[in-house]
Amino acid sequence: VEAFLAPKLLRGKKLLITAGPTFEPIDPVRGITNHSSGKMGFAIARAAAEAGADVTLVAGPVHLATPRGVQRIDVQSAQQMYDAVLPQAPHHHAFIAAAAVADWRPAQTHEHKLKKVEGGANLAGTAPTIAMAENPDILAAVANLPRPPYCVGFAAESEKLAEYAEAKRRRKGIPLIIANLGPATFGRDDNALLLIDEHGQRELPEAGGRADKLSLARALIADLSKRL
Ligand code: CTP
Ligand code: CA
Repeated sequence: VEAFLAPKLLRGKKLLITAGPTFEPIDPVRGITNHSSGKMGFAIARAAAEAGADVTLVAGPVHLATPRGVQRIDVQSAQQMYDAVLPQAPHHHAFIAAAAVADWRPAQTHEHKLKKVEGGANLAGTAPTIAMAENPDILAAVANLPRPPYCVGFAAESEKLAEYAEAKRRRKGIPLIIANLGPATFGRDDNALLLIDEHGQRELPEAGGRADKLSLARALIADLSKRL
């Protein structure tokens, strides 16, 4: 009912959204990942579709249903997310980077499971050292396109929220960043957001406190519709 009543603020607009964590394999049975339930990004995708947008959602490994009317592309690693996003980005009006992308990956993925006990030899006590390589910054790459979509970043910080988020916004060259305090928000159904652009800050929910992620996503989409 709410979806039906929602004003179609984004009719004719194409939104590209990343959500969830990425998973960086070490071998066929192990990997490195980030904390992210994907709930905020999926709520934004749902709110955008309710508002009439054409939504493409690039999702890392999460256990969430695809919102109605949303086109979903599933990926695992940061490189796969990059490869899915970059060719699509020039064809969208806005890019919302809600994913918790792993900053580094194992430099090599082993074809076979690393073994603690192999060929009768017990290797216990000899832990492997895993060399790491840096992943591409998807948001910064999209923001650097010749004609970028309107780019929205997220910043989960554990301290100095506004200061760190604003520094991140400038560093990535994006018009808007959405800051939230972690790790308290991870996996929860509610959140509190701080929107920061070149003019200043705005809190959601407006009245302070916390709100459920879908309400926040709808408020965020209403805000975004004025920027596009
Ligand atoms: N991001 C991205 N690709 C990456 C890393 C981050 O697209 N490889 C995006 C995230 O989706 C988020 C924003 O960039 O919208 C900020 O991510 P964050 O991890 O907070 O920033 P970093 O620049 O990686 O800095 P740090 O982790 O050191 O705080
Ligand atoms: Ca990071």
